[in-house]
Amino acid sequence: MGQNHRQEAKACLTAFALLLAFTLPWLGYGLACLPPRFVSTDAAAQPQGKLIALTFDDGPRRETTTVLLDGLKQRGVPATFFLIGEQIPGNEDLLRRMAAEGHQIGIHSYTHQKLTGLNDTDWAAEVDRTRLVIQNAVGPGDYFLRPPYGLTDPAVLRRADRPIILWSVDPEDWAKRNTAATAEHLLSHARDGAILLLHDIYPSSVEAALQVVDELHRQGYYFLTVEQLFAQRGIPLEAGKIYRNAYPASP
Ligand code: NI
Repeated sequence: MGQNHRQEAKACLTAFALLLAFTLPWLGYGLACLPPRFVSTDAAAQPQGKLIALTFDDGPRRETTTVLLDGLKQRGVPATFFLIGEQIPGNEDLLRRMAAEGHQIGIHSYTHQKLTGLNDTDWAAEVDRTRLVIQNAVGPGDYFLRPPYGLTDPAVLRRADRPIILWSVDPEDWAKRNTAATAEHLLSHARDGAILLLHDIYPSSVEAALQVVDELHRQGYYFLTVEQLFAQRGIPLEAGKIYRNAYPASP
């Protein structure tokens, strides 16, 4: 009886060891095949690197935005677009492309009006209407707000109902309309956690943006959408609050 038990136990252990020997390598293989935790972000490969966000206002404009999207796709770089509502009808495919290619979409306004001092009707016409046309193109989402000219007042903060995203580097590309000068300003002011402001309605700005991506890649930067940038830094984004950068916390 005791002898039988020992033999059974030995046989059982042998079977278990064989089972482990066959399954463990497959388990390891299976784990290695799981998708990475942060998908489709530049920082996934190197979360400790310098992080930066490219943001574009005043689009979409078919000609220039398409060139930009092509260039960003080639480089595997996501950006954030704060859109003008009245420029969306007829360009819905560009919004779908932005969403499909990992870019973040936000609201600038419907007609590029200041959002300060508006009554409820005008606020709805500028902000809610823009949210609606965006949703009609790409579905529901958070759609953060960047008010035209970066102008805010307590009413804008209260009504926004979303985080308000401003910027830390403004090359005034709309005034310069000069690729080299715009790129130079961006490169000399870029730093870890910065939010760069550009306008994808000017060919010179699109060209500057792509040059800057290439140079900052060489300098070890990783590009993220605004949402990814703050998430990566562990900074929660709250409705009605203004955010200008995601600089790393000082040690
Ligand atoms: Ni603007």
